[in-house]
Amino acid sequence: MSDKTSKKQFLSSVSELRTRARKKIEAGALTEAYPLNPEEACGILNEALATELVCVLRYRFHYFMASGIHSGAVAKEFLVHSNEEQGHADLLAERIKQLGGKPEMNPDILTQMSHSEYKEGDTLAEMLKEDLVAERIAIDSYRELIEYFGHKDPTTRRLLESILAVEEEHADELADFLFAQEEGSDTPRKLYAKDEVVAKAAVPKSGKMKNVVADKM
Ligand SMILES: [Fe+2]
Ligand SMILES: [Fe+2]
Repeated sequence: MSDKTSKKQFLSSVSELRTRARKKIEAGALTEAYPLNPEEACGILNEALATELVCVLRYRFHYFMASGIHSGAVAKEFLVHSNEEQGHADLLAERIKQLGGKPEMNPDILTQMSHSEYKEGDTLAEMLKEDLVAERIAIDSYRELIEYFGHKDPTTRRLLESILAVEEEHADELADFLFAQEEGSDTPRKLYAKDEVVAKAAVPKSGKMKNVVADKM
């Protein structure tokens, strides 16, 4: 087989590429040669988007509610994570749009689509634990998504890989906050188990909660 023949079999001709590109130009970046089912791909990415948006809110809630002797650094980290999850949500929404889909942001259905749950937690330790569980769910689901897009959609795969790397950092940071090695011991122990958040402490007997944010300022 000559070089010319094998190249022809592997690559489309210039005129074929040009003709295809002119068809359905309203589809933007989504061409006919896209090898996956775009609807299915957008559905999968919308689940990841819902997961990110739920994480934005949960971390935001934890940022405002964290209190206790160790809470300063942790609260700051909750805010950083919340902002980074929002960044991920924006990237996913943009990609869904590029693939001809609609980024789902209806609050009524976000929690049903999200892989992780919206769990508040009553203590700093519980918040850290819930966030760590959510990150571990996100890590597993991004790994599966990366497999799904694989070589068929390298743009989405690279996007997901970059998000996965940040989720792994998040999980690592949360684990560092949650567990520490006691001096002279091989067993990790919980750092924040006894910390209470304002949510419990601030509810007076009347059952009405104080304005936690205003009290902090
Ligand atoms: Fe994220
Ligand atoms: Fe994360």
